[in-house]
Amino acid sequence: MKSFQLKGGIPLKGQVRISGSKNTALPLIAASLLTEEPVILKNVPNLEDVRTMVDILKHVGVAVSFRDGTMAITPKSGLGNHLPYESVRKMRASFNVLGPLVMRHGEAHVPLPGGCAIGPRPVDMHLEGMRALGIETTINHGVVSAKRIQTPDAQTFHLRIPSVGTTEQLLSIAVLMEGAEVVLNNVALEPEVQEMALFLNRMGARIEGIGTSALRITGVKRLFGTEYEIIPDRIETGTYLLAALVSRGDVELVGYHPGHNVTLVRKLQEMGADIRESENRIRARYLRPLRGTDIHAEVYPGVPTDLQPQLTVLAAVSEGVSVITDTVFTDRFVHVDELKRLGANCSVRNHTIIVHGVDQLKGAPVKANDLRGAAALILAGINAKDQTVIQNIDYIFRGYEEISSKLRGIGAQCELVEEELAS
Ligand code: UD1
Repeated sequence: MKSFQLKGGIPLKGQVRISGSKNTALPLIAASLLTEEPVILKNVPNLEDVRTMVDILKHVGVAVSFRDGTMAITPKSGLGNHLPYESVRKMRASFNVLGPLVMRHGEAHVPLPGGCAIGPRPVDMHLEGMRALGIETTINHGVVSAKRIQTPDAQTFHLRIPSVGTTEQLLSIAVLMEGAEVVLNNVALEPEVQEMALFLNRMGARIEGIGTSALRITGVKRLFGTEYEIIPDRIETGTYLLAALVSRGDVELVGYHPGHNVTLVRKLQEMGADIRESENRIRARYLRPLRGTDIHAEVYPGVPTDLQPQLTVLAAVSEGVSVITDTVFTDRFVHVDELKRLGANCSVRNHTIIVHGVDQLKGAPVKANDLRGAAALILAGINAKDQTVIQNIDYIFRGYEEISSKLRGIGAQCELVEEELAS
């Protein structure tokens, strides 16, 4: 385990290059299992979660090489169809290899992912959708076994919630249901889901309605190898925009995807931040004290839940009262108590965070409990007077490529330290 030591109160200035999107790379790597031909992915971020997904592919018998952002995935004959508990426990997204494995193998066995620090995360809709698509699912000793028993000629499935993971799982099944016409209604609209559909079409799938809440899929017999470039990470983008503002600095992000952070940008402008976009760049400047506001984390195109903890930090150092709710993970509050240790005046009441802004946070030892919560604590440390030490910072390596050197490049005084040395 590592700690992150920060000396806060320094306005960040300069440029940061945005990495490839984690939540696009993961489902695309999993979906590569759908073809027997090689797949090349470019702009893949070098992250712990990506390495976990690579280990899963290797575990089921796929050769993967990954260097300088380019990943080559070469399937071998005799694909395995069991996943160890360890990989699903580490990362929920690994549950999404179930669909590709069952379509390649006829049956597959993947442990249930269970809950995590951001609240309960069931897979009931994944299983309900699979059953609608002719796949029998049973759960024994915590392992989901899925078996293809029939291919319906036509099927419509309505997602109760526009879930990202469920949409991706069902897409990877429907594309290989040869001859069947499948309609998925109320699907997730997140750019990462759209990218997965575009990627599958590039492999020879027939998906229509991409970018709308109804996807029409005509199943094909086989998919082909392809080459695909991963889009920039909109959550990393948002995190650095917020880092610039909590530090009261001026930071430009390069390699930005215009249009993917519209609601966030509007919210930050409403709070009084100076945000300017041009082509593939976006710049956040702190010119005057920001005003507190109401923030609702919602499905796309709303403010993403994966930026809610970081936005809580900005609210904590903005003027007046902010009210923050998260309609995706309604109990995603594990960061709040740690922020209080840093002097934030915030509390949770009835699934809502009430924040009374203070001028500046104060450094203290804190502990990270999840990926985005860890990012929020780093932002808090960037703002705070004196030194902040964040224990258990390893979560951050799941989702932020080279965060320590990127932050140092814009003037942050921060350092990763082995925990034994820090104590
Ligand atoms: C993905 C993202 C994650 C992000 C989340 C919401 C990846 C790898 N992860 O997670 O970073 O925070 O989208 O944008 O892309 N639900 C059910 N039953 C199910 C499935 C989901 O009730 O079978 C609920 C969840 O509990 C949650 C909501 O649906 O309340 C949305 O979750 P979902 O979109 O599925 O999130 P993930 O795909 O797990």
